[in-house]
Amino acid sequence: MELTKTGIPGLDELLGGGIPTGWTTILSGAPGCGKTCLSVGYLVEGINKYNESGIFCSFNESRKELFLTQQSFGYDLEKLEKTGRLKILDFSYGRALGEGQLALQQTKVDLPALTKSIKESINEINAKRLVIDPLTIISLLFDNIREVRYNFLRFFDVIRRFGVTSLAITESSYSKEFTVEEFLAAGIIRLYNERLGSKRQRGIEIVKMRGINHKRGLFPLSITSQGIIISPEVEMLSG
Ligand SMILES: Nc1ncnc2c1ncn2[C@@H]1O[C@H](COP(=O)(O)OP(=O)(O)OP(=O)(O)O)[C@@H](O)[C@H]1O
Ligand SMILES: [Mg+2]
Repeated sequence: MELTKTGIPGLDELLGGGIPTGWTTILSGAPGCGKTCLSVGYLVEGINKYNESGIFCSFNESRKELFLTQQSFGYDLEKLEKTGRLKILDFSYGRALGEGQLALQQTKVDLPALTKSIKESINEINAKRLVIDPLTIISLLFDNIREVRYNFLRFFDVIRRFGVTSLAITESSYSKEFTVEEFLAAGIIRLYNERLGSKRQRGIEIVKMRGINHKRGLFPLSITSQGIIISPEVEMLSG
C-alpha cells in the first residue's frame, strides 16, 4: 500500500510509514486535544518537506482566526497561502447563525456545494493533501443515521476520486463510542488529553489503519511552539 508521510515528528514511526495515500483518515479527539494543530502540521510539512500542496477546509475557525491561532505553533499560514501552495476554504460563517442543520442550510453549505468547492480548489493548486476541520459538521446536514452513513460513504468515494490524501477531524468526547464516519474511514488516529490527579497528560493512539502494521497502544504527545511532537518509543501506562 502506498503511504503518505505526515511529516509530524514521531507520527510516521507510529503509523508504520504514513497514512494510506488517496484515502481518508479520521483524526478524532475531545476539545483542545491538538486536532487542528496536528492537521495543520500535516499540511505545512507536506508543503515544506514533500512539496505537496494542501487544502484546509475550516468550519470552526475563520481564516483570520487560523492565521492567529496557528502562529502559536510556528505556522505562518498567511505566508503559505500567498505562495499558492496552501488554500484555506473558510466555511466558518455558518457559525454566526447558530448551531446545526438550520445554520448550514441558511448558508447553503450542502454536500454537493462543498465537494464542488473542494474539487475546484484541489485543481487550482494541484493539491495532494486535504484537511476537513471538523467533518462532524456534515452529519448535521442529515436527519437520520441511515442518511448520514450513506452520505459519508458517498463523500469519501468522491474525495477519493479527487486523488488527495485526507485527514478528516471528528469531535469526540472521552466516551469509548465510535461514530459512523470512524467505521467507514480507512484509518483512525485518536488524540487524548486525560486528567491524572491535578495534571493532564496528552497522548495519541492509532486505533485502526487498514492494510498497515502500525504500532499499538497510547503514546505521549506534546504540543509545542514548533507544533506537535510524538514519542513513538515510550508507551504510556494505562490507568
Ligand atoms: N505554543 C504552545 N505550546 C504548547 N501548547 C499550546 C501552544 N499553543 C496552544 N497550545 C495548546 O494547544 C491547544 C489547542 O490545540 P488545537 O486547537 O489544535 O486543539 P483542537 O483539538 O483542535 O481543539 P478544538 O476541539 O477546540 O477544535 C490549546 O488549548 C493549548 O492547550
Ligand atoms: Mg480545532
